[in-house]
Amino acid sequence: MDELQEVGIQAKTSLLYFDNVSVHFEIKGMDKPLIAVDGVSFSMNDGELAALVGESGSGKSTLGRVVVGLQKPTSGKALFRGKDIYKLKGKAFLEYRRSVQLVHQDPYAALNPALTIYESLAPALRRWNIVDKKDTRKAVSSMLEFVGLRPENYIDKYPNQLSGGERQRICVARALSVRPKLVVADEPVTMIDVSLRLSIVDLLLNSKKQFGTSYIFITHDMALARYFLLKGGGGKLMVMENGKLVEMGDVEEVINNPKHEYTKKLIESVTE
Ligand SMILES: Nc1ncnc2c1ncn2[C@@H]1O[C@H](COP(=O)(O)OP(=O)(O)OP(=O)(O)O)[C@@H](O)[C@H]1O
Ligand SMILES: [Mg+2]
Repeated sequence: MDELQEVGIQAKTSLLYFDNVSVHFEIKGMDKPLIAVDGVSFSMNDGELAALVGESGSGKSTLGRVVVGLQKPTSGKALFRGKDIYKLKGKAFLEYRRSVQLVHQDPYAALNPALTIYESLAPALRRWNIVDKKDTRKAVSSMLEFVGLRPENYIDKYPNQLSGGERQRICVARALSVRPKLVVADEPVTMIDVSLRLSIVDLLLNSKKQFGTSYIFITHDMALARYFLLKGGGGKLMVMENGKLVEMGDVEEVINNPKHEYTKKLIESVTE
């Protein structure tokens, strides 16, 4: 039977569809593998927001890496628009690579220190033919404007001339410049000064509003997850513990009526 028939209509119509996805790591000197992701199932639609919350080591980044194509699952199905991410070829693979972008925790490591901001942002626009060659500089400028940086002050600077918050804005600009459908933001504000965190989160939400970008926002901070989803007009709260999704539901429902002990603990630690 055709794979699409097998997994049904939801798998076909969802932007992302995970069915029973597990990731095991073989560790030297250990007889059993480490189970980083354990039978995770969920789906994402176009324009949907999700926040993935859990403590350190619960498997959030590993799950995020499966979504962006960097970590092949040991078992289970990881589908993008109904097709197995790890079997995509040719045009479909390229479309996926452009459509799903990662913003990660460390804006220092994410930018090449030898390149100016223009040189960091232009190649993706060229690679995916987002604009005509002659319009590349204009397009980079307009992305800088979108992330709240005056282009003339930033476009020819090097990363070491920028603050952490500014660098993360550049990383967001780069991820959004190729017009992705889904962005996995893995602890995008953890390394940024507390006073600037919400402005970066708001920036992500602006792109949801303006371009309909979907997000999987990864954080260990329940308060931040709640802020992200409520400010963004609602979405799915997913709670991860020891590799398992132990709770998933509409953010307001989960916060008001958490089913799982671990979720209750995370919520209580916020309100205390
Ligand atoms: N490449 C790898 N090889 C072996 N073990 C790994 C690898 N990547 C992750 N792990 C292990 O998998 C588990 C989950 O790690 P992961 O980075 O996904 O957690 P996390 O929830 O993102 O944690 P944090 O909040 O600290 O970022 C951890 O025990 C980690 O040590
Ligand atoms: Mg992580």
